[in-house]
Amino acid sequence: MAALSVVVVRKRFPAVGAAPEKLVLHDLRFRVAAGETVAVLGPSGCGKTTLLNLIAGLDREFEGRIERPAGRLAFVFQEPRLLPWRTVEDNLRFVLDGVPDASARIRTALGEVELPEVGPVYASRLSLGMARRVALARALVVRPSLLLLDEPFVSLDQPTAWRLRLLLLELLARHRTTTLIVTHEPREAVMLADRILLLSAAPARLRAELAVPLSFDERREQARIEAVARALLPDLREPIAAEAA
Ligand SMILES: Nc1ncnc2c1ncn2[C@@H]1O[C@H](COP(=O)(O)OP(=O)(O)O)[C@@H](O)[C@H]1O
Ligand SMILES: [Mg+2]
Repeated sequence: MAALSVVVVRKRFPAVGAAPEKLVLHDLRFRVAAGETVAVLGPSGCGKTTLLNLIAGLDREFEGRIERPAGRLAFVFQEPRLLPWRTVEDNLRFVLDGVPDASARIRTALGEVELPEVGPVYASRLSLGMARRVALARALVVRPSLLLLDEPFVSLDQPTAWRLRLLLLELLARHRTTTLIVTHEPREAVMLADRILLLSAAPARLRAELAVPLSFDERREQARIEAVARALLPDLREPIAAEAA
């Protein structure tokens, strides 16, 4: 059963001044099943954020058709985008908007991202790693029927990024949330996704669709992830991110 169905025939940005019209996405079709985690893997600038904006309904200017599941959608942006002058708890309460058991849900969500104490802390005081975890809690606290993640672990040091990926892996397994994660990191895609949609450089087309043959436990072992990444993505030695150049 498809929870999400995406057909983008064309997405272009119009000419502005001397800059010509730009075709960013071309003939992109895929589905995501309920409970599945799919990664969209492609070089920087290929159109991944543009695609998420279409799926989220933030940008409606495209040719095609997108069917989303009923229920709430959660979007973890490339930057955490917390309200800096509000406490962490208020940042979460804001998206819950009058839900009766909001306080209990906020406590649970912060516990799940291993930050049970930060509720009263101003968001501006958080490290980037903590802010990314709070952004994840803010997404999960609404119990989304579709979770969209845009490179949620960029700009973190490697050990922190690894810990946060482990945390996300566990949370997705626990909640079985239908998830689309966008990344330019092949190993991140292999670790987290059931299936990888490999995009070309802009205008982004689907180059390949790859099932990831790893169990939950195997996904926690870096050597396994490395082996599968090299088997699935033979051009890994030339980093996929370099293709845009
Ligand atoms: N609002 C916009 N107007 C014109 N061009 C844009 C706009 N947003 C993005 N682009 C261009 O579209 C391409 C894809 O951008 P983006 O979706 O952000 O890529 P990615 O997230 O894969 O790095 C880039 O060349 C970018 O410069
Ligand atoms: Mg992007």
